[in-house]
Amino acid sequence: MGIIITIAQQKGGAGKTTIAAQLATALAAEDLEVATLDADPQGSLSLWYAARTAALPGDRNTIIHAPVQGWRLKKEAERYSSECDVVVIDSPPHTDSESTIAIRAADLVLIPIQPSPLDVWASRSTIKAAQEEGREVLIIMNRVLPRTKLTGAIASKLEELGVSAAKAMLGSRVSYVSSLMEGKGVVETEGKSSAAVKEIRALAKEILKHKSVKLAKAA
Ligand SMILES: Nc1ncnc2c1ncn2[C@@H]1O[C@H](COP(=O)(O)OP(=O)(O)O)[C@@H](O)[C@H]1O
Ligand SMILES: [Mg+2]
Repeated sequence: MGIIITIAQQKGGAGKTTIAAQLATALAAEDLEVATLDADPQGSLSLWYAARTAALPGDRNTIIHAPVQGWRLKKEAERYSSECDVVVIDSPPHTDSESTIAIRAADLVLIPIQPSPLDVWASRSTIKAAQEEGREVLIIMNRVLPRTKLTGAIASKLEELGVSAAKAMLGSRVSYVSSLMEGKGVVETEGKSSAAVKEIRALAKEILKHKSVKLAKAA
């Protein structure tokens, strides 16, 4: 069985879809079998995947994808996880039943936030929903500006809420956006030494080391 990772955040525009696609391609670049599931009725990740199948015909695209909404999500995610190493689920904004289903389907919930106390505040109900479902949570700092450190104020706010942030953070970078337009991730469009590739690979590796992540391959 592979692991199921849901990207959740009630706030729209936090970077869920961007991180889902970037992480999926970074994990695939580690030679893992990856499936992406789009649980957001807006279907942005599915549009990315459509661009991907056009850009990478046949065997060149190793990621498999399905749009899955509603009550079928948990079963479908489990089915894909029996065939793949990692299932990445992109979920809709708001804390409604749709996003709760996506959280319930996951082994690990990634919550992207911008490093501002206001964003931490705005994430409370997503964090609470994941905790109520007994899911492990990792906060992902996204669109971090140069020279920003995870400030004590934010770290202590997260601590109060019983969660912690991944060490790997993602900067605000054009390549995260432009690569998606080509149906790819930065690991496929940018050089190995680019900052974006280093960041997303560091995040992928950190997630694979995370205690809830037990890959079928490693077992
Ligand atoms: N790390 C980043 N660097 C630059 N732009 C980003 C980054 N993350 C997200 N964005 C941009 O922010 C907007 C919202 O991101 P998106 O992934 O659609 O968020 P969500 O899925 O949570 O609504 C998009 O225009 C996206 O291109
Ligand atoms: Mg989205």
